[in-house]
Amino acid sequence: MKYKQMFRVALLASALLGASLSAYAEDNKPIKVGFMLPATGTYTALGNAIENGFKLYVSEQGGKLGGRTIEYVKVDDESDPAKATDNINKLIKSDKVDVVVGTVHSGVAAAMAKVAKETKTLLFVPNAGAQAITGPMCAPNIFRSSFSNWQPGYAMGEVMAKKGIKKAVTITWKYAAGDESIKGFKDSFTKNGGEVIKDLNLPFPNVEFQALLTEIAALKPDAVYTFFAGGGAVKFVKDYKAAGLMDKIPLYGAGFLTDGTLEAQGGDAEGLQTALHYADKLDNPKDKAFRSAYETAYKDMVPDVYAVQGYDAAQMLGIGLAATNGDVSKQAELAAAIEKAEIDSPRGKFTISKAHNPVQDIYLREAKGKENVVVEVASKALADPATGCPLK
Ligand code: PHB
Repeated sequence: MKYKQMFRVALLASALLGASLSAYAEDNKPIKVGFMLPATGTYTALGNAIENGFKLYVSEQGGKLGGRTIEYVKVDDESDPAKATDNINKLIKSDKVDVVVGTVHSGVAAAMAKVAKETKTLLFVPNAGAQAITGPMCAPNIFRSSFSNWQPGYAMGEVMAKKGIKKAVTITWKYAAGDESIKGFKDSFTKNGGEVIKDLNLPFPNVEFQALLTEIAALKPDAVYTFFAGGGAVKFVKDYKAAGLMDKIPLYGAGFLTDGTLEAQGGDAEGLQTALHYADKLDNPKDKAFRSAYETAYKDMVPDVYAVQGYDAAQMLGIGLAATNGDVSKQAELAAAIEKAEIDSPRGKFTISKAHNPVQDIYLREAKGKENVVVEVASKALADPATGCPLK
């Protein structure tokens, strides 16, 4: 080969190598995950548990999903719907995240889903149960790893009716999560012969329960069904007990009433029965491994339903990215992989509906000491109706 020719070949080879190296760098640049979770207010502990669970799964995978390193940025959403649009826009436009993970509060999450849908940003909802997200607003790029507000309510209504409870009062915060939890409860409770004699509520995140507890005492229902969570759930249970109602009017609820809260409730929740897609003592190998890894990673913190939902959001993202070799832009392939997967969750195996909500067992649990011990499966493979979702 002449010198000139050799020079040309070398030049071509180095150009090709350069091009493939830069493609390699592009493919392998980290994926930026933006956490939008509460770091202040009544849902703070819930946000922490979700972040811990998510990061635990990623670290078990060596810090990578779909072959790409995962990097994090985060914003405190304060459980404030009025700030939600600005907060998610900041993650997408300024921080340039590839994926958003959030949040706890249904009103905040609904605003996030709107932006995610418009901008086609991948969104994993690791708690908020707002029906709309996997109903009228459902989208190929939006997934929920948790539940719909309707699911635990529906399961609990059936259990209470079967116990022979006839007249119930409901009490909750006046926002999507409370309203929809009560709706789920009523759907099955009334279908099975129960009657709701009064719906009581107060604005989120208020905890001045006294006047409402006085009203419950006067109404004398057979039982009360409630949705409260986080710091508000701690206070509600303590106030219910202090008002002398615990032994007179049985209290039931969606399991958030006693999940991650038993320590702070200091025994006042003892014996409470609730319905949820997670419980303590589930006796499956995945849960045992998860709990021991969590307690090791987070210095003896005990995982709760929120930690499980964070862990499973990361598992779902991992399943999607494995199918696209780490390419977040291949949303159809990513969604198809998640839709056909059986997710091996600490809660037990579950699948994702076409509307992208978990189809899962709902457990009846009873608070014993610091645990919500599983009593039975209250509702097997319960699917949200996903009313209004064109994908289902
Ligand atoms: C919600 O706003 O959807 C929500 C918040 C906290 C929970 C459950 C649901 O524990």
